[in-house]
Amino acid sequence: MERLRGVTQTELEQAVGEILIEADALQSRIGELGAEISADYAGRDLLLVGVLKGAVFFMADLMRELTVPCEIDFMAISSYGAATDSSGVVRILKDLDINVSGRNVLVVEDIIDSGLTLSYLMRNLRARKPASLEVVTLLTKPERREIDVPVRYVGFEIPNRFVIGYGLDFAERYRNLPYVAVLHADLIPPAT
Ligand code: IMP
Ligand code: MG
Repeated sequence: MERLRGVTQTELEQAVGEILIEADALQSRIGELGAEISADYAGRDLLLVGVLKGAVFFMADLMRELTVPCEIDFMAISSYGAATDSSGVVRILKDLDINVSGRNVLVVEDIIDSGLTLSYLMRNLRARKPASLEVVTLLTKPERREIDVPVRYVGFEIPNRFVIGYGLDFAERYRNLPYVAVLHADLIPPAT
């Protein structure tokens, strides 16, 4: 069996090329974001809108760092299929249950890559007339941005690599890794 950092690898860990952000670094940055967001939303009514499925892990940890009350809801949007490149095709697969009109909405994203998905989502949500609309993303790949989207809170800027773990998937797998890692070269599909 192969070895990672001197220990025997699990089947899950075999997908890992290199660990980019360790679990404790994720948690400490999420603590900082939580403090910042709590200060900014003090005395206001906050609704977190998570983008399924990747943001679930980040949202669960972030909301437990908030010292202000909040509600949560989720949307599902199609972005990638099994490939690692954006199709540019965006479709709402699951809409919100809550009416966001007049609410302070904070969109919770796992990662912003081209920005196409978020740009579409922001336009869609803005049309529903929230009192305010901001974004918190755990990760961003600035080099890949194709469209400018204002992001209020960013966890980490990362290089242009395909990452998995802590909610991020490759073909729906590896979300359950506790850290953010680069996908192993053996699993990266050949460029088309
Ligand atoms: P965008 O529309 O190109 O910004 O793509 C955003 C979405 O693509 C994210 O919400 C992820 O679901 C997915 N994505 C982008 N980069 C990665 C990555 O490195 N690993 C896993 N998913 C990614
Ligand atoms: Mg995805």
